Amino acid sequence: MAIAARTGNSWMKRVATFVGGDTGIWRITNTKTVAGPPLKKVDRIAVIEDNLAALPTGGKWLIRGVTSNERYTTRKEHETVLSRQPALGRPEATRAALIPVTKSESWWQLSQSERRAIFETRSGHIRVGLKYLPAIARRLYHCRDLGEPFDFLTWFEYAPANVDVFEELVGILRQSEEWRYVEREIDIRLAREISWAGRDSDRQR
Ligand code: HEM
Repeated sequence: MAIAARTGNSWMKRVATFVGGDTGIWRITNTKTVAGPPLKKVDRIAVIEDNLAALPTGGKWLIRGVTSNERYTTRKEHETVLSRQPALGRPEATRAALIPVTKSESWWQLSQSERRAIFETRSGHIRVGLKYLPAIARRLYHCRDLGEPFDFLTWFEYAPANVDVFEELVGILRQSEEWRYVEREIDIRLAREISWAGRDSDRQR
């Protein structure tokens, strides 16, 4: 039973590959290297809900992450986020942001409770973020344990009317104590023209 349950939660079912290149429904409108080394300049990003080990034709780079259990939320925060956050793929959400983030070694040296104190008690990441739901849909991927160049891939979707709202949120988070530990961050903004509520692969979660 326990083994079956674990197989059901296999990382293969939770992995996504973001391919930068010349294919994919998301066209890049702007890329800003906020901190650390840049990624190669590309025109489009394809989001594949699968584990791609090699670059497909037309791809210049790929980065991968897995969705995972939460680390920092209290029960109440978890439930509030869950009740307010919309699903990805809303037809009106034709804008997106992919923001890969790496935190410094000093962050990872902290204990879990020290990180929670910075992340929420002093930076208010969840407190602030909640004000932007349901305008912004989000998904967090973890990559540190996959040996990837980033620790996290953060993905957001919103309507064109909320472009400035998202900008405001990102600006607030970047001023927080938590962000002093961010040593690499690439802010990639995207738009899609076709109204297909999904990603570049068929697998749904
Ligand atoms: C839209 C509103 C947002 C909400 C409601 C939100 C909420 C959350 C929550 C609940 C977590 C913790 C998950 C856990 O317990 O492990 C988290 C983690 C994270 N979020 Fe956000 N977030 C938002 C926006 C953002 C934005 C705009 C960025 C990037 C600019 C971002 C970057 C991150 C990162 C990098 C983590 C992982 C932190 C770590 O584990 O060290 N979030 N977010």
